[in-house]
Amino acid sequence: MKSFKRSYIASVGTNVPDNIMYNKDFEAFLDTTDEWITTRTGIKRRHIAPRGVDLKASELGAVAVRRAIEQAGLEPQDIDGIICATFTPDSFFPSTACRIQAITGCSRAFAYDISAACAGFVFALTSANSLIVSGVAKNIVIVGAEVISKSLDWKDRTTCILFGDGAGAVVLRGTNDESKGVLATQIQSDGNLGDILVLPSSGSDCTMKMKGNEVFKHAVKMMSEMSQKVLDSTGLSVNDVDLLIPHQANIRIIQAVAERLNVPREKVVINVERYGNTSSASIPLALEEAWKDNRVKSGTRILFTALGGGVAVGSALVQF
Ligand code: UT7
Repeated sequence: MKSFKRSYIASVGTNVPDNIMYNKDFEAFLDTTDEWITTRTGIKRRHIAPRGVDLKASELGAVAVRRAIEQAGLEPQDIDGIICATFTPDSFFPSTACRIQAITGCSRAFAYDISAACAGFVFALTSANSLIVSGVAKNIVIVGAEVISKSLDWKDRTTCILFGDGAGAVVLRGTNDESKGVLATQIQSDGNLGDILVLPSSGSDCTMKMKGNEVFKHAVKMMSEMSQKVLDSTGLSVNDVDLLIPHQANIRIIQAVAERLNVPREKVVINVERYGNTSSASIPLALEEAWKDNRVKSGTRILFTALGGGVAVGSALVQF
């Protein structure tokens, strides 16, 4: 396959479970309040797989992928690759991406998962962009798909109130039109910070553990630094950015990153109040809303940034 000068985001598709959990619902079984959750996190509700239903990340993700492919005006046969970012995979193997491939009928595609927790979307975007510009593939679907509710300790008020389930996909396509596309990405990891956010795979307690304050502090610093780095690598400044779409973990993290970068409030896309933290699905969920609200037009430059367990951090500058 021939290589391309750029890859661009052609479409987005999302999917969340119908079931909604409100802050008030936690008051029935946890020492917490709607007021605490709202003021400390900005979250008011989240979509959660109904209790007792064994929802798979692939089932959530496949619908988002199908929607993104349709939205791009493509057929499943046009897709060369599926990259799924998830920390709640159906199984260690087959990968969730392979399951999604089987459900969606993208039978020509390669398919694999990546593990970068909440930074997964930016890591997947970086991988897919590299595969397209190097000529390995022309059309790649990236999907963040998470059923986080099954990884939570529902007795731990410091974590379980934060997360929601969901999936978001984009189709990335090769082009030689240099007026649009992924302008730059930067990704980095710091394994020495691994213990601040952990989901164990074995042992007596396989639920998520988080040192919230530390994650908060590193998230603000590292997401701001990576975003500045990505801007510097293109020679553009923050004034050239039309929208900032940060990972949606906590309204206070989002505001602090925007403040550090000097991005005014009206340029920041925020929907954490309605979804909570959906990990690798949060950026595509916010992108779809911005697109539907007519905030994404030809030429719009969007800065994505995210941090997750690992820790893994990444930023990307994309022109539409
Ligand atoms: O995507 C990456 C993954 N995660 C994140 O980005 C999360 C990053 N961290 C955060 O968002 C925040 O640190 C939290 C929302 C988790 C916590 O907010 P905080 O402002 O950092 O609160 P804190 O941990 O300093 O706790 C303050 C108090 C504590 O009580 P004491 O020790 O002062 O008596 C907590 O026990 O708030 C208490 N607390 C709660 N109270 C009511 C913690 N969780 C709750 C709760 N309801 N749900």
